[in-house]
Amino acid sequence: MSHNLESGPGLDGARQFITTNLPILPVPGIPEIRLHKAGPHSGLRHLAERDPQFGSPYWAHYWGGGLVLARYLLDRPETVACCRVLDLGAGSGIVGIAAAKAGAADVHAADIDPYAIAAIGLNAALNDVAVQPVLSDLTTGEPPAVDVVCIGDLFYEAALAKRVTAFLDRCLVQGTVVLIGDPWRAHLPASRLRLLAEYAVPDFGENAAGPRPSGVFAFESSMSP
Ligand SMILES: C[S@@+](CC[C@H](N)C(=O)[O-])C[C@H]1O[C@@H](n2cnc3c(N)ncnc32)[C@H](O)[C@@H]1O
Repeated sequence: MSHNLESGPGLDGARQFITTNLPILPVPGIPEIRLHKAGPHSGLRHLAERDPQFGSPYWAHYWGGGLVLARYLLDRPETVACCRVLDLGAGSGIVGIAAAKAGAADVHAADIDPYAIAAIGLNAALNDVAVQPVLSDLTTGEPPAVDVVCIGDLFYEAALAKRVTAFLDRCLVQGTVVLIGDPWRAHLPASRLRLLAEYAVPDFGENAAGPRPSGVFAFESSMSP
């Protein structure tokens, strides 16, 4: 059964928790965007205690891949302007929000975590953009009718990376452009990527280590020369 928050606080309860406990902070290197971000006193464990299905709260943090791709879209708005965009594995919604700010015609932000869906709605409103949250694992089906799929930091597990890569291959077949932001994680399909830009950005859990180089890539067909 999919997790719809009814075993926990419900969507309204999740929204209320985020609004009350996760401060609104400027995003490092992206002054155009502000997000609800977990801090040391956010008490996410209280949310976890209320919900047996509570997972890792990826939506409450910045990730190197999302930071670098959001920066890229804002620096090169022509990449997504007037396009239908899907932000896959959206987390906080940072990439979809950047796409909307860059002038995308329509933005959907998909995640399998219902808390991410709550966060995306709040963060989009906070940044005064329209982003449609989608609670679904889109990687298992046919690609949606969009012009650009954007992915920030979704290659952190081997099985997930394999499934996402197969989905992206189906996107290429239907003519969809695929852009990926990633801090060179182990399961990135590097042989299929063309580097478009590189920025040094902080990554979750590595703030003490300082910014690290993260890439923005075009995902290309295995038949590309
Ligand atoms: C590391 S976070 C990155 C979030 C955001 N893109 C960013 O860069 O800040 C990965 C996100 O992907 C989501 N996710 C994992 N598997 C997924 C799937 N099959 N479909 C959609 N989202 C997925 C997780 O719930 C999580 O929110």
